[in-house]
Amino acid sequence: MTLEVIPVTGLPEIGSGDDLVTLLSDVAEIRDGDVVVVTQKVVSKQEGRVVPEDDRDAAIARESVRVVAARDELVIAETRHGFVCANAGVDASNVADGMLTLLPEDPDASARRLQEALLERRGADRLGVVITDTFGRPWRDGLVDVAIGVAGMPAIVDLRGTPDHGGRLLDATVVALADQVAAAAGAVMGKAERVPAAVVRGLSWDGIDGTAHDLVRPAELDLFRESPLQALHARRTIRSFGEGAVPRDAVADAVAAACTAPAPHHTRPWLFVALDGAPAKRALLAAIAEAWRADLRGDGTPEETIERRIARSDAVLGQAPTLIVPFVRFAGAHPYADDERAGAEREMFLLSGGAAIQNLLLALHARSVASCWISSTLFCQEETRAVLGVDHEWHALGTVACGPMPKGGASRPRPSLDLGDFLRWS
Ligand SMILES: Cc1cc2nc3c(=O)[nH]c(=O)nc-3n(C[C@H](O)[C@H](O)[C@H](O)COP(=O)(O)O)c2cc1C
Repeated sequence: MTLEVIPVTGLPEIGSGDDLVTLLSDVAEIRDGDVVVVTQKVVSKQEGRVVPEDDRDAAIARESVRVVAARDELVIAETRHGFVCANAGVDASNVADGMLTLLPEDPDASARRLQEALLERRGADRLGVVITDTFGRPWRDGLVDVAIGVAGMPAIVDLRGTPDHGGRLLDATVVALADQVAAAAGAVMGKAERVPAAVVRGLSWDGIDGTAHDLVRPAELDLFRESPLQALHARRTIRSFGEGAVPRDAVADAVAAACTAPAPHHTRPWLFVALDGAPAKRALLAAIAEAWRADLRGDGTPEETIERRIARSDAVLGQAPTLIVPFVRFAGAHPYADDERAGAEREMFLLSGGAAIQNLLLALHARSVASCWISSTLFCQEETRAVLGVDHEWHALGTVACGPMPKGGASRPRPSLDLGDFLRWS
């Protein structure tokens, strides 16, 4: 295959509502089988996706569904389309002074509209349209044009199961054809030269139409969801879960991460009991409720209040697909005769339990498993050990309720932090 990549010159400055099809048709020769590549900037301006510069931060927040990494002014965020890019695609280049463009609302739909109108205008049988934006890449310096909207051609070509040159079957090769077209067009659509479109001629493709959405890697296959620092900020206590189960391998990975926590005297003083069967979970909740009821009755709490509190706790623990009860033991603690040192020794082990649980929560979060650490079993040690069949040496550290991440994550944003309250230099 030989490709020709032809810059489209002579397009006027595009404004909201302009007839892009006529403007493109006036200046570009478009033939049957061509791919018309248009930059996001043109499409966004034509669709009126422009905001004033002083709305920048709010616009980035509105356009982001998830922050992947942040440093100083730069935010790498996922847009509602699933693209991960700098400042959620909010961009000041090649736009009037004091203004910013946002990505098109639905770039695949924009590409589709353009493709259908161009097909009709040119009387062509087959045309591809690719809308591009310029993205940075993790691990590689330099920017490259990628497809954010595709119509009329496949976005990806799955070569898995086809033989390579030597006859070996390919098992991982999925080619991002629309990104390759975007990058080729990017080579002639110089940023400063006012070439906001190109025609790619000579591309052959088979099969069904794709969309740029096909290029978005599903969350469960994404090994690089967040920067490590961002993950610390993004983990939240979540008390009501999405549909479905928690994969056991996600729990196993999380426990392995928990067991990397620092601990005193080179011990690994932890045990995690995971429950995902209904009878086991019911038995644990019943034991917790019974112990709690007895305690509250002993305090003279009215029955109505007792039942309300238990119901509230059950609303989180009872609906969680998986419960994990973390334990710590004090074996290996140094013996001291005085209470202060003996207490400090015990606290060291408890602290390592807290560190392990935080690792557990973070590792669950990394697998899109939502969690809530609930105090419950801390207050009923004997009952918890009995119902879970755990030896007397283990000390329960609460219960971690886990479930699939609900849409939208935590219900409330994290309260703002005044670092001066938490950090003192001396
Ligand atoms: C030891 C411990 C016990 C907790 N117990 C409960 C609990 O019983 N019920 C609950 O809803 N949240 C419980 N939490 C969660 C805190 O309420 C939660 O971490 C806090 O609201 C901050 O929210 P964030 O984790 O989203 O930042 C507990 C947290 C810890 C560390």
